[in-house]
Amino acid sequence: MNQENSLEAEEKVILDDIASRLKVFGRERGELIPILQMIQERHAYIVEDAIKMTAEHLGIAICETYGVATFYNQFRFHPPGKNQIKVCLGTACHVRGGDIILENFERKLEIRDGETTPDREFSIERVVCVGCCALAPVAIVNETVQGHMAPSKVEGLILGFKIEKEKAEREKQKSEPAQ
Ligand code: FES
Repeated sequence: MNQENSLEAEEKVILDDIASRLKVFGRERGELIPILQMIQERHAYIVEDAIKMTAEHLGIAICETYGVATFYNQFRFHPPGKNQIKVCLGTACHVRGGDIILENFERKLEIRDGETTPDREFSIERVVCVGCCALAPVAIVNETVQGHMAPSKVEGLILGFKIEKEKAEREKQKSEPAQ
């Protein structure tokens, strides 16, 4: 199964699950946020068609549903990457160049904040103060705090992950029986 087909199949499973869960929610507007939270809790992100299903369930416009979902930055619209990169843009990190760090990750991975690479290896999101201001600018990479971030460190981190991935692939090939 290629990447596109497997994504489609995965989204179908997600949408079937959401359809069955929607039955327990009322049809009042006040249910919109709880429904979006339920979707994100169960599936880690909100699939595009889930917005349509939610709008239909509540009898409201798709654009209104989408507007509410995008207003709150607790919701994500892309599946999280295997390696999750969070860049702090709280005040201390911002004044020490947090936005430059974010830009560096975006440029290196060719995705924007809130997105996931097509191979699902990386996702990037901005976060507010994570409580380690003395280490600003800070990024959290797979739950590990990376302090005093600099563009060269961004490069080093990504390179490290790519080398690890290649190594794992080589090991896998070696352990697969020859055909
Ligand atoms: S502002 Fe980034 S850790 Fe506090």
